[in-house]
Amino acid sequence: MTVVVRTVEALRSWRAALPTDERVAFVPTMGFLHEGHLSLLREARRRGGHVVLSIFVNPTQFGPGEDYDRYPRDEDGDLAKARDCGVALAFCPHAPEELYPSRDTWVNVEQLDRHLCGRSRPGHFRGVCTVVCKLLALVRPDVTLLGEKDFQQLAIVRRMHEDLFLPGEIVGMPIVREADGLALSSRNAYLDGTTRAQALAIPRLLDRIAAAFAAGERDVATLCAGAAEALAPGRLDYLEIVDERSLTPLTRIDGPARAAIAAFFGRVRLIDNRMLVP
Ligand code: PAF
Repeated sequence: MTVVVRTVEALRSWRAALPTDERVAFVPTMGFLHEGHLSLLREARRRGGHVVLSIFVNPTQFGPGEDYDRYPRDEDGDLAKARDCGVALAFCPHAPEELYPSRDTWVNVEQLDRHLCGRSRPGHFRGVCTVVCKLLALVRPDVTLLGEKDFQQLAIVRRMHEDLFLPGEIVGMPIVREADGLALSSRNAYLDGTTRAQALAIPRLLDRIAAAFAAGERDVATLCAGAAEALAPGRLDYLEIVDERSLTPLTRIDGPARAAIAAFFGRVRLIDNRMLVP
């Protein structure tokens, strides 16, 4: 049975009642759960103890004109999936004010947000870090699981977690893809048949880069050449190859790196990435 709580007070009471030797694995989400989220919940379950899921479309990580209002929501469906995955507690705040009694306090990780989505979506990672920090303070998990599709988010949350001495361990989990290669995302729900077919240009481009890299190419300009054309009629937001740890853009690959991409298909912005290890 999954307990559903809607207030900070109820979450705190549930957590305080747990014996100190019982483990908690936490999966923070914005809901509209897909197989990627379910892979996190299954891994959380596999690790033993209580699985806590949060479902909260966090307003502070959306910029003006972004899709906060139309972000897909399906709480009943999510809770059915949560029950199937053995989630012990789902935290579904009834309103943003529950997690934001004021909007005076923010958590900001500098440097790592200077590139990629941090540049395209100013303030996005401040919103992510602030809400994840609040959730970690409330849930006090032994382990928190996040997907690698949001590769920059994972790196930034890891840095915040380390620098603020937050509880538990952060674990990144591999990207889950459709059979044709499209990375799973709640935003795929916005795609129609045409834009979905166009969006396959993203995994194809990453495959092409990975193949050239495997064949020995190390020059970033050469690896990324022709990207905008390869994505058309989709519109490239960015394609960068960055250092795996510092997220600094590279011109040549000499150590672990990531090719990271964001592109628009119609109004839908999708991200994806591929690890490149020499
Ligand atoms: O990845 C997400 O779904 C969100 O950014 C997160 C981590 C749940 C914070 O709102």
